[in-house]
Amino acid sequence: MKKRIGILLSGRGSNFEAIARNVASGVIDAEIAVVISNRPEARGLETARKLGLTAVSLPSKGLDREVYDRMVVAELKKHQVDLVCLAGYMRLLSAYFVREYHMRILNIHPALLPSFPGLDAQHQAIEHGVKLSGCTVHFVDENLDAGPILVQTTVPVLNDDNADTLSARILEQEHRIYTEAINIVLSGKYHIDGRRVVLD
Ligand code: GAR
Repeated sequence: MKKRIGILLSGRGSNFEAIARNVASGVIDAEIAVVISNRPEARGLETARKLGLTAVSLPSKGLDREVYDRMVVAELKKHQVDLVCLAGYMRLLSAYFVREYHMRILNIHPALLPSFPGLDAQHQAIEHGVKLSGCTVHFVDENLDAGPILVQTTVPVLNDDNADTLSARILEQEHRIYTEAINIVLSGKYHIDGRRVVLD
């Protein structure tokens, strides 16, 4: 049976679209079981509906973190999700959520972690004056942008870059490495040694 992916997003959803394209073409051998957003107005939810996928709006506003995460986990379990992919999901997960899907939650971040975690990573990179930035796909733990790293790639920062031009160049690479990371996890050909993800 194909593995079932659950996508969590909060906005535009271009990483989700790249994953959906690769699922549709067979590059990723899995199915997207459900797309959930904490923001009802997220463009990614609309895209999911247009693609004929199950799209669920679960507004998080005003809810305690764990109370909300229990609702999300219940929805993921209802759809028998094996692997959770955060795709521009702008919320920290509770210990409860991380426990329920231990080492089965991935996130993509637009910087070379551990540099520039949190919001506006591309802006942080420009402000700091780094010559190289990039993106990272990692397993999710309770800390912000901090779990074991699966795949990273670098992107040069050019003299005339601003946060928007750098973001666009990083985004192209995000779309590529998220699929690469998902395929590593689906293959099961890796093990985790401390913080290191080692490919078998
Ligand atoms: C992406 O650049 C992703 O790496 C970033 O949000 C953007 C979402 O774009 N995520 C984070 O910063 C998480 N800390 P998308 O909605 O078009 O995929």
